[in-house]
Amino acid sequence: MNISKVLESVPVVPLVQADDPAVAIDVSRALAAGGLTVAEVVFRTDRALDCLRAVADDVPEMIAGAGTVLSAEQAQQAIDHGAKFVVSPGLDDGVVRTCQDAGVPVYPGTYTPSDIQHAFNLGLDVVKFFPASIAGGIPALKAVAGVFRTMRFMPTGGVSAANLAEFLAVPSVLACGGSWLTPADAVAAGDFQKITALAEEAIAIARSARGEK
Ligand code: 3PG
Repeated sequence: MNISKVLESVPVVPLVQADDPAVAIDVSRALAAGGLTVAEVVFRTDRALDCLRAVADDVPEMIAGAGTVLSAEQAQQAIDHGAKFVVSPGLDDGVVRTCQDAGVPVYPGTYTPSDIQHAFNLGLDVVKFFPASIAGGIPALKAVAGVFRTMRFMPTGGVSAANLAEFLAVPSVLACGGSWLTPADAVAAGDFQKITALAEEAIAIARSARGEK
């Protein structure tokens, strides 16, 4: 599956963070019901692999990737548990090579021009830009886009409904990621309607930022 192509039309990647696979499933269904059909199940809980497997198996409407993948070993585990793509906070050759060898898209985090150049030389044409708001935000993205003409970016970190349109208006931005779509309090309260509403809001912002109806 060409995830980058899917992200062209669904340019927002929410985070699914759960300790319980049943909750990961509910959150993923709520996101997909709101139109967000690509999500990162983040490796920040002890049961993240079970959550990933559960979403991959039981939520066919969701394209589930693994997020916060820190090592080549974790990347392999993610792939073995059904990850359709892998996201990292930073750029690690082992993570990238593991994914490339498996034919799984990988979006490693970059922060500096050196990171982006390193990613380019690893054969990547899409990278995460993290944490986007601290790494210089939109002015930084515009500045590097002129140099790395073929690179597309996934800004994450400090993105929200308030600034999503501005990020998506930058031509080199493929998609934005973030945790604002799955607030911890809504997840804890089982308020999945809230998550669907946030997803719908993000899709509406994305459509208007991209000039669609
Ligand atoms: C990530 O893992 O990509 C970030 O934690 C998301 O950052 P945010 O919480 O500011 O959206």
